[in-house]
Amino acid sequence: MVELREFALTDAPVLMTWIDGAEALLTWAGPAFSWPLDVDQLAAYAAEASGQRRIWTAVQHDSGEAVGHASLRLDPAHSSARLGRVLVAPSARGRGVGTAMLVKVLASAFDTGELERVELGVFTHNAAAVRLYERLGFACDRVIRDVEHVEGRPWSAMQMSLARPAPDGPAAT
Ligand SMILES: CC(C)(COP(=O)(O)OP(=O)(O)OC[C@H]1O[C@@H](n2cnc3c(N)ncnc32)[C@H](O)[C@@H]1OP(=O)(O)O)[C@@H](O)C(=O)NCCC(=O)NCCS
Repeated sequence: MVELREFALTDAPVLMTWIDGAEALLTWAGPAFSWPLDVDQLAAYAAEASGQRRIWTAVQHDSGEAVGHASLRLDPAHSSARLGRVLVAPSARGRGVGTAMLVKVLASAFDTGELERVELGVFTHNAAAVRLYERLGFACDRVIRDVEHVEGRPWSAMQMSLARPAPDGPAAT
């Protein structure tokens, strides 16, 4: 359904159309970027890509159309990685794109066998994202209350994690 490819700066203009305001920007990436999002900020972010920081665009398998974005920051010293910048194009939401994209991201995280855990942070009121992560097996570790204030309203953040799935048992003979 979707495939991952490395994020390229040529993806930036389309990605910017998926973020329609300061609240959407904060919801997507926390305080990492400032509104209005622009190519310069995304260029600096793209330049972070390395062996420890993977940044992907998710594209439709058949059309090649960009429909999603995600990133993983590896922390080998703690055998963990932090999933972030999860975003699906508004026109593609609610059809399983987020799930399909993150199944591939998590496979890439766990398939080497070097990571024990993937962690993330999500605002507690972001029902779609919390549901997406729970459906993939993430569980809430703790809630950090009132980490942001948006137009006088406090936003709390949930820290979630997912342990590496147990390896399959021996194949039946
Ligand atoms: C969160 C987001 C990535 C989900 O992507 P998506 O492609 O719509 O997700 P899926 O279609 O794979 O749905 C995953 C689950 O979430 C549920 N879901 C989707 N939208 C929902 C909503 N608005 N409210 C509640 N649940 C919702 C789906 O029903 C599905 O659960 P189910 O299989 O039990 O029915 C997308 O809404 C998005 O890009 N949001 C803006 C950016 C953002 O919030 N990023 C996360 C930052 S931590």
